[in-house]
Amino acid sequence: MIRLTEVTKRYGETLAVDRISLEVPTGEVSVLIGPSGCGKTTTLRMINRLIEPTSGLIEIDGEDVMSVSPEELRRRIGYVIQSVGLFPHLTVAENIATVPRLLGWKRERIASRVRELLAVVGLEPAEYAEKYPRQLSGGQAQRVGVARALAADPPVLLMDEPFGAVDPLTRERLQAAFERIQREVRKTVVLVTHDVDEAIRLGDRIALMRTGRLEQYDAPEALLDHPASKFVHDFVGADRALKRLGRVRVADVMRTDVVMTADGTRKIDVAACSGGRFVYLVDDDGVLEGWVDCRVLAAGTPAEEAGTRVDWREAAATPDTTLKDALSQMLGLGFRDLAVVDDRGRLLGEVSLRAIEQTMSGSDAHVSNLAEGEVLGAPADTGEGEVE
Ligand SMILES: Nc1ncnc2c1ncn2[C@@H]1O[C@H](COP(=O)(O)OP(=O)(O)OP(=O)(O)O)[C@@H](O)[C@H]1O
Ligand SMILES: [Mg+2]
Repeated sequence: MIRLTEVTKRYGETLAVDRISLEVPTGEVSVLIGPSGCGKTTTLRMINRLIEPTSGLIEIDGEDVMSVSPEELRRRIGYVIQSVGLFPHLTVAENIATVPRLLGWKRERIASRVRELLAVVGLEPAEYAEKYPRQLSGGQAQRVGVARALAADPPVLLMDEPFGAVDPLTRERLQAAFERIQREVRKTVVLVTHDVDEAIRLGDRIALMRTGRLEQYDAPEALLDHPASKFVHDFVGADRALKRLGRVRVADVMRTDVVMTADGTRKIDVAACSGGRFVYLVDDDGVLEGWVDCRVLAAGTPAEEAGTRVDWREAAATPDTTLKDALSQMLGLGFRDLAVVDDRGRLLGEVSLRAIEQTMSGSDAHVSNLAEGEVLGAPADTGEGEVE
């Protein structure tokens, strides 16, 4: 557990952090969020002593960090920062090996740890170990940064806007990867972000800061449902029902009894539909290639014309996708049903607008109403799946 008690950092007249007290339970993720300059980075860097507090107490598992040597802290605390941080003249493998080397690990142990971590963050060791940071995309570099922070298996991870510098799709994938890794490794994590949706998705608790003070420290649901002040209310924003969908994953509401075929479109007739809305087309490995719309088939259109070919990277969700992102994708594509695939594109099932709506019922809004508004800034026309 990380515990901050009345922690203050003063720069001359500026109170960068003003008597912050909070606890991060072991194995949980706490997210620091708030307007630029509110003291998030300063708070984070005091935990690993990159910055010394002016006053107050910071403890990890009951031990005052000021009584631990910086080297020892470095072993116990992984640190990930936005975009920068990889050493440019070192390979990916050497970057990840930084702390294990400092700790004097044996060569073989380091090499196997590097391979293991690259696999954990979803980078093929044979392909990436010997590359240099300049040969990586932003998202790949970010993954290496996470791998490096995890190298010595520290119980604590500090992350300062780790997914800030990448495009939205990569960001979504990195968040999903982080969630998957965290489910396995259960580190005690403090993560800084500017993005409310990211905080809601990843945080077990959210600390909302304002000019050095802590406005509210609570579970995402509590922040959404019971904002402690007008500032919290306004910061979280208007579309609360949608934001709540950011806590639910496609895996929780998808159906898996979809009809699929690897036979191509020609042989498909209405009988193949067996009551479903779509027959999904997959290749021999089960990778999604498209679908045939059974209602269009039933109206007498030949299968070739009732079929749609798609790129699964663009027209499908994964089990880790949040319902908020799935809904946004549906509105953007104009689909009421979205295929669900694994990370290699293999079809797993389908998530429907109706299922999302059912998740929301009981809260204060309905998707069918939202879909007509401009809440997501996406087209309200859901052409493809209009018929109810
Ligand atoms: N070395 C320093 N000297 C003087 N003032 C500083 C120093 N570092 C930070 N500050 C001030 O402390 C306050 C908090 O800074 P901090 O970097 O923690 O903010 P932040 O919440 O991380 O902001 P951002 O979201 O922009 O990254 C700001 O007003 C900043 O100007
Ligand atoms: Mg900052």
